[in-house]
This record gives sequence, C-alpha cells and structure tokens, in this order.
Amino acid sequence: MSITAIVGCKWGDEGKGKVAAYYAKDAKIVMRTTGGNNAGHTVIYNGKALPLHLIPGGITYPQTICIIGPGTVIDPAVLLEEIQMLKEYNIPNFDNRLKISGRAHVIFPYHKDLDELHENLKKHPVGTTKRGIGPTYSDKDNRIGIRIYDLLLEESQLREKIEEATILHNQNFANNGMAHCVVDPVQLAHQYHLYGEQLRQYVTDINPIVANALDNDDKIVIEGAQAFRLDLDHGDYPMCTSSNCVTAGSLCGGALPPNASIEVIGIDKAYNSRVGNGPFPTKEKSSIDMGISSSSYQQFPGDVIREFGHEYGTTTKRPRNCGWFDCCISNSAKHILGVNYMCINHLDTLGLIGKNLGYIKICTSYNYQGRVIDYYPDDITLTGEIPTPNYEILSGGWVIDSSCKSYDELPELAKKFIEIVEKHSHIPVKFLGTGPANDDLIIRDI
Ligand code: GDP
Ligand code: IMO
Ligand code: MG
Repeated sequence: MSITAIVGCKWGDEGKGKVAAYYAKDAKIVMRTTGGNNAGHTVIYNGKALPLHLIPGGITYPQTICIIGPGTVIDPAVLLEEIQMLKEYNIPNFDNRLKISGRAHVIFPYHKDLDELHENLKKHPVGTTKRGIGPTYSDKDNRIGIRIYDLLLEESQLREKIEEATILHNQNFANNGMAHCVVDPVQLAHQYHLYGEQLRQYVTDINPIVANALDNDDKIVIEGAQAFRLDLDHGDYPMCTSSNCVTAGSLCGGALPPNASIEVIGIDKAYNSRVGNGPFPTKEKSSIDMGISSSSYQQFPGDVIREFGHEYGTTTKRPRNCGWFDCCISNSAKHILGVNYMCINHLDTLGLIGKNLGYIKICTSYNYQGRVIDYYPDDITLTGEIPTPNYEILSGGWVIDSSCKSYDELPELAKKFIEIVEKHSHIPVKFLGTGPANDDLIIRDI
C-alpha cells in the first residue's frame, strides 16, 4: 500500500500522532491534510513529549518530508512557534523537510474573535477550541479566505484582500459589542506580510511532490486530525468541527486521489473521551457535570478514567469527558472511514482503570427508538434521544507496560476485552497501545 491513513474513530485524541509517527519511520512523506491547531498531537522524541498542532509528527525522522496540505487552516503565529520549538530540539535537516501548501488558508485574529462571538451568541455552544477554525473555513467557502500564498504578495495587495474579507465581519463586531475587534487592515497586513516572509522558505506547490511519491510508489502517511464524530458531514452536527476529517476528506485535503492504493488504520482508545459539547452515549458521570473540574477531585467513574488517562486537552488543557469503549461507533466508522485495521491505544490505562473501579464496561449495542441497534444513528437531533448503551462488563483490570510486546503475553482479561471489541466493531484489532512512545505498540500478525 502506498498510502496509510491514520484516522480517528471517535472524538479525537485517540493517539493518532503517536501512530502516525510510528508509521513515519520508513515513510517518504507524512502529511497533515485537514484542520489546524485545534488538533494537538503528542509525539515522544528522545524521551520528551512534543505537543504538535500543525507539523506532522514524522518530522522527528530525518528522511521524511512533512507536508501541511492544502486542506488545512494555518495560524502563522502558532506555526512559527512550533517551528521554533522543533528547532530547539535540533530536529535534523528541518528546513529542507517542512513543506507548507500555499493553498492552505490563513487563520487571522478576526477569525478567533468571530469564533468567540459565534460561541457567545449560541444557546448551545459547540465548545470549540476558539482557534478560529470554523470562521476560517467559512471564509474559504465564501471565497473571501486568504491563503498562505497571499502572505507572500506585496503588503499592499495583502491589505486589499484583508479589507475586502473583513467588510461584513467588521459590521458584525461593531453591532455585537465587539468594536474593539474591528480590523485595522494596515496593521494586520504589515504583521502577516512579515509572517509570510518568515514562512516563505517552506511554502510550495505540494502537487509535484505528492505526484512524484505516488508515481514512485513511495510510502505516504496521512496523519489525520480530529475524528469520525467530529466530521462536518458525518459527525455530530452541529457539535463538530468545520472540516471533513473522515478518510475521504483527508485524501482530498492532501491532493491525494481516491483510487490510490490505501490502507486505513482507525485509531481508538480502550476507553473513550470527548472534549467540547455534544452527545457521548457511553460518557460516565464526572466532576465536570457538577461544575467542578479540579484534577484533584476524584469521586465519579468519569474522574477515575480521566485521571488514569491524563485526559486534559493538549490544545486547550480542558478536562475531557470520559466513558467506555463504544463498538457501535467503531462499527459505523468501519464503513464511513473504510477502516481496515484498528489500533487501540491506552490498553495499559484501561487495565489500571479496571483495577481501580473493579470493572470495565464495553458498549456492544444501543437501545434506540425501541430497537436494539449496532451502529450510530444519524437522526438523534430529530428524535431527541441519545442512544442508551448496552454493556458487556468485565470484572477487574490488569497491569501491563510497554515491555509487553506480543498479544500472547497479555493478561487473559485484556485479551477478552479485545475479543469483545473485535466481535462487535467488526474490525480486526492489529495494534495495541501500551504506552505513549511511538514503539509502545503490540503489533498482531493478522
Ligand atoms: P491525538 O490527538 O489523536 O494525536 O492524541 P493526543 O496526543 O491528543 O492524546 C493522546 C495522549 O495519549 C497523548 O498524551 C499520548 O502520549 C498518550 N498515549 C497515546 N497512546 C498511548 C498508550 O497506548 N498508552 C498511554 N499510557 N498513553 C498513550
Ligand atoms: P485531535 O487531532 C479533540 C473539538 C472541539 C469542539 C469541536 C469543534 O487532537 O484529535 P473547533 O475548534 O474544531 O471548531 O471545535 O471539535 N475538537 C477536538 N477534540 N481533539 C481534536 O483534535 C479536536 N479538534 C477539534 O473540542 O468540541
Ligand atoms: Mg489531540
């Protein structure tokens, strides 16, 4: 297979960065193709956790070309900070390996202000990362977006584009008590033109690079961002992100053809988590529901899962809602994402959660609208019913660490967990995460 797509199966933060970095070891190209710095991907490099938001984790390997593709949205200030951070880590040959598509769209401060405004005006806010992702994509759709290429134009040309793009936004700010956010195109054009100059060496037409890799059958890894239930068309609309982060969208955002030879690895966690608002059928009660989010407060099962999993956002540091593995969503992801194999991370963490709580639950079907179903229904905003999980329950837990390298070495209860997941998700589990490092994986011969 020339393309391996690493895609999230639930609500993000499944460990895509780690698995993409694992795959990047012998890849020619690793690409981010959708989303922006709403993503937070943790990759371990020389024993240290690198929190990456835009640059693919493959950058830690000296031979990979790392592309930020045309389907992404880029906050230049964040990208420059990330470049600086990686340079401080002495990543080899960095400047020659980072390639930024000139067609990616730019996130400006006014997009972040609009993100805030939209959230404040909503009765049911999405709980966005407030990184300006949605407003940047909607400007793109409205054909008033400004692209990375535009940052390389003359400053006066950029200023004209900013003036045109912000006419309606400025009216919105002025009419909604946010006059302080009204854009000064002169100042902004100056600042972003300077960003453009700093990024110029990395900006390129990525098409010939990708075409060449495809022609040579070189290994390409897509480091997916966000996940199935956050997809704009197939996720929990409107409680989702603003891009198509399913496999098809990830291909499109990277200028990769749909008929390429592709293997899809669906990334999941042995328990599930969600940050932001929206349905989460297997969510366990936690202190967040009580309006308390202190990490020291531990009473409900959701708190126990969060604490063992360190489930606090890489991007926003928000405490994540936590619950149990949901096979119904995985079963739907199988079809919509085209998942060939699953990788289940945090098998080590689930064992500790089970030991602490005395049990582990796995959602194997839902009760929904008077029926038992094994998939995620798409009409829950119409029916107003969140599916009720039916669980298989295992007693106890296990202790494993990254020294466990084969399926046969796993405790029987952990194997039982995997069997149940495979049976009800209908996807083979090929990879099992036993720790945060790229190699902390059991790879099954299936
Ligand atoms: P992503 O957004 O999908 O790339 O995932 P994040 O980086 O936001 O969150 C995953 C977190 O889990 C990171 O802190 C990883 O280092 C960590 N992690 C990934 N896989 C494992 C695993 O198998 N076990 C443990 N203990 N931690 C893991
Ligand atoms: P990675 O790639 C977890 C969530 C936000 C919010 C919703 C919309 O690290 O898995 P947005 O800012 O995109 O408009 O927010 O989507 N969200 C994520 N949650 N992991 C992510 O990325 C996410 N990217 C967006 O919390 O609920
Ligand atoms: Mg993340």
